[in-house]
Amino acid sequence: MCGIVGYTGHREAYPVILKGLKRLEYRGYDSAGVALFNNGLHVYKKKGKVAELEESVIGKDMHAFMGIGHTRWATHGEPSDRNAHPQVSNSGELAMIHNGIIENYLSIKNDLLKKGYSFSSDTDTEVFLNFIEDIKKNNACGLEEALRIALKRIVGAYCILLISADDPETIIAARKGSPLVIGIGKGEHFLASDASPIIEYTKEVVYVNDYEIAIVRPDELILKNLGNEKQTPFITKLDMELAAIEKGGYDHFMLKEIHEQPETIHDCLRGRLLPETGQIVMSGVENHLAELINAQRIVIVACGTSWHAGLVAEYMIEELCRIPVEVEYASEFRYRNPVINKGDVIIAISQSGETADTLVALESAKEKGAFIFGIVNAVGSSIARLSHAGAYTHAGPEIGVASTKAFTGQLAVLTMIALKMGYSKGTIDHERYIGLMKELEAVPEKLREILKDTSSIQRVAEKYKDARDFLFLGRGYNFPIALEGALKLKEISYIHAEGYPAAEMKHGPIALVDDQLPVVFVATKDSYHQKIVSNIQEIKARKGKVIAIATQEDAMIASMADDTLFVPDADELIAPLLSVVPLQLLSYFVGVAKGLDVDKPRNLAKSVTVE
Ligand code: G6P
Repeated sequence: MCGIVGYTGHREAYPVILKGLKRLEYRGYDSAGVALFNNGLHVYKKKGKVAELEESVIGKDMHAFMGIGHTRWATHGEPSDRNAHPQVSNSGELAMIHNGIIENYLSIKNDLLKKGYSFSSDTDTEVFLNFIEDIKKNNACGLEEALRIALKRIVGAYCILLISADDPETIIAARKGSPLVIGIGKGEHFLASDASPIIEYTKEVVYVNDYEIAIVRPDELILKNLGNEKQTPFITKLDMELAAIEKGGYDHFMLKEIHEQPETIHDCLRGRLLPETGQIVMSGVENHLAELINAQRIVIVACGTSWHAGLVAEYMIEELCRIPVEVEYASEFRYRNPVINKGDVIIAISQSGETADTLVALESAKEKGAFIFGIVNAVGSSIARLSHAGAYTHAGPEIGVASTKAFTGQLAVLTMIALKMGYSKGTIDHERYIGLMKELEAVPEKLREILKDTSSIQRVAEKYKDARDFLFLGRGYNFPIALEGALKLKEISYIHAEGYPAAEMKHGPIALVDDQLPVVFVATKDSYHQKIVSNIQEIKARKGKVIAIATQEDAMIASMADDTLFVPDADELIAPLLSVVPLQLLSYFVGVAKGLDVDKPRNLAKSVTVE
């Protein structure tokens, strides 16, 4: 979703901003723009990709030492040049970029219209900006003060960068609910939605908190709260290399990230999973073991792929810890006034740590006294900071919009947590505990085996790439993997796909089955194996095309399926970490075969920072 970049310092601002916008492209967007200060404000905006913006300014004087840039994911108003950011105020004196939504913009707009303001876009951002301008005029105050007053009166989420035609150096920034990182250089500062545009210039960053305003000049960074009190910036060292956000020889980030999984899982387990000594070292769990194992109920909140990881965790935690678990879509959980009792634990799962629905759900659960445990990939993100305790997935930056390595990282972390809790609680015995630890430890090697040769998956993808619909079926631990397989295919190939519990298929989706419908069965060897064999037969009897994900050497499944993709044998609790990988690759290869932009699928955003 919207990406924000700002620069003030001694370098040419435009190339820094342009490169930064390209690094943020992965977030998903539909238009781009920049505002530069060079004896006044100069704004350039374009519907489409950053490259189109770049082309449109060829030959123009882009010289400036300060500027702001934006990639917009449309909320208010269609993607167009005029709705792109930066927006400019009526006087032409202010320019602003904004990530988020101003919910009460209509009433503010009506007031401003009555005062004679006019609007050249459909955006809430232009309203917000003119509101600031109006306050500045009426209160005869400075821009910072006007912004502070405006922020107290708007409802919604925002991260904004604001510049003025009478100040060549200063960028004023503010955030609530949408992320903002400030990179600290020598005589220069970088501002961005995440660290990726900053990393090649400096590793020292400040994560701006909600309700803070930052006044940023080349030599100065002042943080204040909305009460105009100075805050001490907390400087963090980025633990990330530039290579981590580049493609490293792969055609797409998605493919690179799928192939990184043996390493990312290894990194996730390293120093934590110690089968030789029977220990699982996770300080976030250890320090709060009593809250976790005595929980009356665990509620997992998440969105998208992370929600699927939550479903796998539901099965694991109930089996290993005997604690009731509910898995909730964060957006629904937040708005249906859920019952939260003392002793409830909320586990939040999020790759980005910035998903607005998850964040808001957590804030309200926290207010009601719930204990929040965050499982997050992006270090220092809002959800990580809001949680009472947590565990990072350590999958490294995930750039492809479709989540792959972050998902398996989430599964690995959740497995360790469930094992540690179950063993501490006494709901699993030593043998199963050590056995599962060893199974988890073996996952990176088994992933390497799957990824060694992916040609059979590519062949299947090419065979079915023109199908109109797909059905994905699984049981038990593989049911969430069927959902995830369907989601991946939809996201990347735009083919309609549904995931279903294999047995539930009889209550509806079976009506769709004919000789044109590919049905993917996630059918690795587990306690449901015989049952899923029957489900496959039900599909075959209706001439459906069966693609099976099966355990190596499972001749029975292979004899029934039209196409079989094998994964190494594993305990059923661990199997999702393996069975999801051929499905990630299937979607990837179908998307590529259809000539689609798999890293930046249409309409999708990597980090969904609006509710
Ligand atoms: C978006 C992304 C998905 C992701 C979901 C939740 O929809 O495209 O890949 O699963 O958001 O994001 P989170 O960062 O909270 O895991």
